[in-house]
Amino acid sequence: MNSTNQKNISSKSLSKAVGMRSDYCGQISSHDIGRQVSVCGWVGRRREHGEHLAFIDLRDHTGIIQCVVQGTHGLHSEYVVKITGTVSPRPEGTSNKDLATGEVEITNCEVEVLSKADSPPFSISDRIEVEENVRLRYRYLDLRRNKMQHHLRMRAKVNSLLRHSFESQGFTEVETPLLWTPTPEGAREFVVPSRMKPGSFYVLPQSPQIAKQLLMVGGLDRYYQIARCLRDEDLRADRQFEFTQLDIEASFVTQQDILDFVTQAVIDVVSEITGISIESIPILTWEQSMELYGTDKPDLRFDMQIVDLTAIFKDTQIKAFQANSIKGIKVPSSCPLSRSKLDNLVAKAKEMGAKGLAWFKAVDSEDGVVLESPLAKHLGELESKALIEAFGIEPLETILIVADEISLTRNILGNLRNELGEPDPEKPSLCFAWVVDFPLFEGFDEDGNLISGHHPFTMPNLEDFHLIDSDPLSVRSQSYDLVLNGWELGSGSIRIHRDDIQSKIFSVLGISSEQAQERFGFLLSAFSFGAPPHGGFALGLDRTIALLAGEDNIREVIAFPKTSSGFDPMTQAPKPISPQQLKLLSLVPIKDEALD
Ligand code: AMO
Repeated sequence: MNSTNQKNISSKSLSKAVGMRSDYCGQISSHDIGRQVSVCGWVGRRREHGEHLAFIDLRDHTGIIQCVVQGTHGLHSEYVVKITGTVSPRPEGTSNKDLATGEVEITNCEVEVLSKADSPPFSISDRIEVEENVRLRYRYLDLRRNKMQHHLRMRAKVNSLLRHSFESQGFTEVETPLLWTPTPEGAREFVVPSRMKPGSFYVLPQSPQIAKQLLMVGGLDRYYQIARCLRDEDLRADRQFEFTQLDIEASFVTQQDILDFVTQAVIDVVSEITGISIESIPILTWEQSMELYGTDKPDLRFDMQIVDLTAIFKDTQIKAFQANSIKGIKVPSSCPLSRSKLDNLVAKAKEMGAKGLAWFKAVDSEDGVVLESPLAKHLGELESKALIEAFGIEPLETILIVADEISLTRNILGNLRNELGEPDPEKPSLCFAWVVDFPLFEGFDEDGNLISGHHPFTMPNLEDFHLIDSDPLSVRSQSYDLVLNGWELGSGSIRIHRDDIQSKIFSVLGISSEQAQERFGFLLSAFSFGAPPHGGFALGLDRTIALLAGEDNIREVIAFPKTSSGFDPMTQAPKPISPQQLKLLSLVPIKDEALD
């Protein structure tokens, strides 16, 4: 995404300078000429003219101002100084158009060094690439860079807009505990040993899921929270151990109500942060999304929809196409596929489990458009015509075809679509979509029990509930995801509040009533005292902000993230604790063999 979408998170919105300074560096302009000002900040670029004169760029969180300093004062990069002087116009021909304060400078400077600084391991500049480990080791220096300043301020602004949006929609902010008990999101958990109850542990919440449902039983009606969540899962560009959700839950609502609440908040945030006005967010069913884009998080910035070709090839002589499902995508001429690129794609498709990947290139001939491919001579005349028609193919375009089981044809073409697709400049740069009607179950585990698609409290679509024994995999749930440009931004569901439905779901998931009692007894007990129909949603804030900031890794919008191996190069966490602490917590390190 193009980060030029963003409105400037303007320094004008910052408070007035007080305390040790009269002004912020980046806010001084020609209107201030003649004023005596005091500014504080870090010494950036210095240009020394002999021993008697130096031009110093002084930097604070609002920007840079040039100060003309008599004598060098032994100033080095990143020294913290207070400079008092007079705002003056820069001499003719020396103004700097690239700098907001480029028309002026501070002269007659009195310099007070507030802190000396060692030479930093990298220059504080957006233009310099620094290795990630070094950035994270000295994150406080990395944070001095413009980009990080901008992203963290944008993050704060998004939080504030979300708070405002949900409050104006009647939601109440409630904080839920961090020292908690297992939650049903299904990732590995971080645990905290109890000192007072040796051998027992708190579990850090993967989300406030259960707590927010209890708040509904507690009559809060509409809850929201900007909630820290913790999951011990493998880290990726869009995953950290700790992350933040904008979490909501509401009573006496339908799925559409939740979609409307969240859509309103997204419209509010996007318009304020980017200036882009979104009228509405399109809704796709899970089935449509899988059928057209091969994924439940489609990137809608480009078309390249998957086309079902099964009917065209139902009587085919081509062995490779004798399969349950045959699907294809058309690659536009703007993405030319050479023979070696095609070979690469074939290899990739095979890595993903395809038996092969067929391709046909459209070329012009005397008889109009014809298809070229090693397979072309095996195509029946009708098949070839139908294929050309199905894609409305033009010369220089290429069709890629996979024939297999439906889940594979969708998945492989969905991946190839993502790899080959380029955002269409005619389409919006932010393409949100709701995906609804997810299947209630993902499949079966080794013991033949069904596996929940979301979590065990997700309400089935009651129209399908009668199929739960005969055809459980076709039962849809009342759950929904919000996606943006190919990322899952958030997800939610209407919850089960009825005892009979909940018992049935536990039973098909293979959760006995004893196990249900042990894991979620307190929730079930709460439900027995009058549970309102309720549902909710959680928006991943790190992902949302990364996409709004045009970043492809959420670490860029988190103040102190971990590396992909879960390490913090600055604090060196995680690290061993002392034997005394282990003892206090009744913990004994054990060797792997002891577990076998
Ligand atoms: P879910 O588990 O889908 O739903 O999480 C909701 C959103 O949280 C974000 N997210 C993450 N972001 C960064 N790092 C992670 N490790 C991570 N894991 C999840 C994603 C995701 O879409 N309790 C339910 C919500 C509900 O049903 O109300 C839940 O947590 O953006």
